Order: sequence, then structure tokens, then C-alpha cells
Amino acid sequence: MLRRAHLLASVSRSNGSKRFASTKSLKETLQEVIPGKQEQLRKLKTEHAQAVIGDVKVENIIGGMRGLKAMLWEASVLDPNEGIRFHGLSIPDCRKVLPSAPGGKEIIAESMLWLLMTGKVPSEAQTRQLSRELAEKGELPPFVEKLVDSLPATLHPMTQLGIGVAALNHDSVFQAAYEKGIKKSEYWTYMLDDCLNLIARLPALAARIYLNVYQPGTPLPAINKDLDLIGNYSTLLGFGDNHNLTEYLRLYIALHGDHEGGNASAHTAHLVGSTLSDPYLSYSAALFALAGPLHGLANQEVLRWQFAMQEEIGSDVSHEKIKEYLWKTLKSGQVVPGYGHGVLRNPDPRFIALQEFCDARPELHESSIIQLVKKTSEVAPAVLKEHGKTKNPYPNVDATSGCVLYHYGLKEFKYYTVIFGVSRALGALTQLVWARALGLPLERPKSLSIDALEKLIT
Ligand SMILES: CC(C)(COP(=O)(O)OP(=O)(O)OC[C@H]1O[C@@H](n2cnc3c(N)ncnc32)[C@H](O)[C@@H]1OP(=O)(O)O)[C@@H](O)C(=O)NCCC(=O)NCCS
Repeated sequence: MLRRAHLLASVSRSNGSKRFASTKSLKETLQEVIPGKQEQLRKLKTEHAQAVIGDVKVENIIGGMRGLKAMLWEASVLDPNEGIRFHGLSIPDCRKVLPSAPGGKEIIAESMLWLLMTGKVPSEAQTRQLSRELAEKGELPPFVEKLVDSLPATLHPMTQLGIGVAALNHDSVFQAAYEKGIKKSEYWTYMLDDCLNLIARLPALAARIYLNVYQPGTPLPAINKDLDLIGNYSTLLGFGDNHNLTEYLRLYIALHGDHEGGNASAHTAHLVGSTLSDPYLSYSAALFALAGPLHGLANQEVLRWQFAMQEEIGSDVSHEKIKEYLWKTLKSGQVVPGYGHGVLRNPDPRFIALQEFCDARPELHESSIIQLVKKTSEVAPAVLKEHGKTKNPYPNVDATSGCVLYHYGLKEFKYYTVIFGVSRALGALTQLVWARALGLPLERPKSLSIDALEKLIT
């Protein structure tokens, strides 16, 4: 709490405007922060290695490791009731203190990335400097462009993204340095270079996939060195003039950037990275975990399901009709997409932030799909409670993330998980840098067969 108060105070001083004391780069700032964390971990290892912080129950092993405290993850911690905090800052805190783009109001990927990596709120100057660095690194190597162009338009955009990201490992500076022979204490600097290169190139890669699949033949504009990462992404997608969509993308991508380490995509990146695979290979693997319908694909599923609901119930969008449709979905043995969560036990603060974005824009009050999503969120928790299975009957971020994209003209919902993939790189790649800075070992949990488990019980 102390740390958080300090962070908030540090940005509210000096004439009530944001404090921009330092123009140190991200790497220089990390260089300052890392020794303190290394010392903290060294103390834990030497003084508390045998401290017990919980039991392992049979239900943990057969229940997808839910609730098992078994991973170190620096950038964020998820509280089941309160939601996510990034180095102590909640989503409303972040929306107050993190710099936005020039002419924009919403938080952006660069300021969130800085916070995730360093635990500090960046100054406006640092944010702009990082935007420029990313824009300068944003072009794709020609062979990756050719590779992506050669993929069939019928291949799911997430598969294409995973392929493109893996191929970018051709230029991995970590891999090249490792082959030459580097000290373990230097790993993180090469990792950071790779991670920034990857984050910088994601918009060009993701936009190329979008145009190839949905608007073949449309040329991609050049990256604008004066724009922020997501301002460029929106422009490359063809929505540069659509200020509302660009702002929404900025907010969605920043606040979706990290959700602690246990979720399938983040955990996959961490696991693969622990073998000293480079960030491209690690994040490519993570993207294929994100592509599952219980994880990142849920945002595409929500829209598909809401449109099917709309078609069935027609213009009479009453709570009663929505309730009937919810029961129909549940009775057919399907999950209600956009509801429930592996950890959260209250409405998702990310859902609340996106709803606030919608509530603040009069044009979105007129959108039938946004109003249907909102009305569904008023009815579904009670239905899911009565159904009695899900531990969390409340909406998660995916309940609303897609309908705003749809309203503002990005209507191809098979593409939505790609946007999530651009976002989640912020947290997963941050952790790769920290894992190497802290010298974390190869991940290797113990598994048991049913017979072996039974023997341990009796
Ligand atoms: C997110 C999700 C995978 C979490 O799974 P989980 O941790 O196993 O959730 P729970 O412990 O609450 O699950 C208990 C039971 O409730 C069911 N359940 C959970 N969420 C449900 C939902 N939205 N609709 C219907 N049933 C649901 C589960 O399928 C499970 O049923 P089972 O016992 O027959 O296997 C799950 O809530 C889900 O499938 N949600 C819909 C997809 C989605 O929105 N994903 C995006 C998450 S950000």
C-alpha cells in the first residue's frame, strides 16, 4: 500500500500535473530496479526457502491446479474479489496516472508496459521516447511478410499470428548471443531487446494478417514514427481516422496486457521461456494457448453467441427473453461465453472499465449489440447462480470487449483474439525479462498418476 501511495503521489505533485523528473530509458530504469529485486529474492532463498505457504490438496492436482500458489510472477497479482493490480495499482488507479497518447485520454500500451516492467509510473517524456523506439523497430523483415502473405486466408488469424511470431525468431539477439556464449547475468538485456523488437513488430504483423484475410490486395501504410504503438496499429488496420476505435483499442490493449501468471497463455510463455527459448518462440507458444475457446477465443465466441441470441429473440429485447435464451444455452450443455473465471469471484474490473468507456459515449447508447450485451449482463448472473455450477456468475472482460470493436466497424470477430494477442505480449514478455534477470530455473513440476496419487493418500 505504501508503494502505491508513493506511486500515486509521485504523479500528482508539481502544479497538479504529471511529474516528469526523469528521462531515463526503459533499459536504464530496469538496470536501476533489478538489483533490489535480486536482493529481495536472494533473501527469500537464503532465509525462507523452507517456509510453508499452503497445502497441496488432491483437488489442486485433479482440478487444473486451481488455487495452487506455485509460480513467481512480477508484474501483477490477481485478487479473486478485487481483481487485478499492476505493481499495486488497480485499473482505476492506472487510468488516473498512466500517460495517454497525444490527443487521447485512455492509457496506452507503452505506459502500461513501462509500469509492468519497472513497477514505476513513466513520465510523459519516457512514454513518448518508448513510443518512438517501438515505431522505429516496427517494420517486419521481408521474409516474414512473404511467409504471412503465402498463408491461406482460410487459416484462422490466430494460427497465422503464431506462425509469424515464431518466424521472427530468425532475428533473435538472445539466441545469437547465447550461441556465442554470454554470462547468465547478461541474459536479461538481450531478452529485453528481443521483447521490445517483438512488441514493436506485432502491429505490422497483426495488421498484415487482417488485410490479407479480410481486404486482400490492400497495401499497408508505412509506420508513422510520431504515433504510439496502438495508434499505428489502428492506422495499419485502416481505422486511423476513427478516433473512438483507436482510443478503445488503446484502452483495451493496455488493460488486458497482464492478468498475473497462471492463465494459460502467460503460463505457457513462462514455461517455454524457462527452457531459454527466445521470446519469439515462447510467445508464439503462448498465442496457441490463447487461441482456445475457454481462454482468448472467448471474445469471438461472445459476439457469435450474442448475435445468435439477437436473431432468435428479434426486436423484443426484454430481460425475460434474454433469460430464456440463457437457459437454452445452458440446457444444451454449452457454457455462456464471457461469464465465469478461473480466479475472479466478482465482476471483472476490466469489464467495468470497458462498460464505463461505453457509458461515456452517447453513440454507443444507440448500438443495439452493445445494449444487448449490457442487458445480458444484468440478467446472466442470476441465471448462472440458479444454474449452480460456475463459481463466478459475473461477466469477465470478454463479455463486452468485442461488441465495441463491432460497433466501431471492426466487424470480423474471428480476428478479435489477435488483438488480445497483441495485448497479452506486454505482460508475458515482461515476465520473460524478469525471469532471466532473477535467474529463475527451468520449470519442472512433479506429476503423479492416479495410482501414485492413491498411494500417497492411503
Ligand atoms: C473461464 C472458465 C473457463 C473458468 O473455468 P473454471 O475455473 O473451471 O470455472 P468454475 O470452477 O466456475 O467451473 C465449475 C463448473 O461451472 C461451469 N461453468 C463455468 N463458467 C460457466 C459459464 N460461463 N457457463 C456455464 N457453465 C460454466 C464449468 O464448465 C464447470 O462445469 P463442470 O463442473 O461440469 O466441468 C469458465 O468460467 C468458462 O468456460 N467461461 C466461459 C468462457 C469464457 O468466458 N472464457 C474467458 C475467460 S476470461
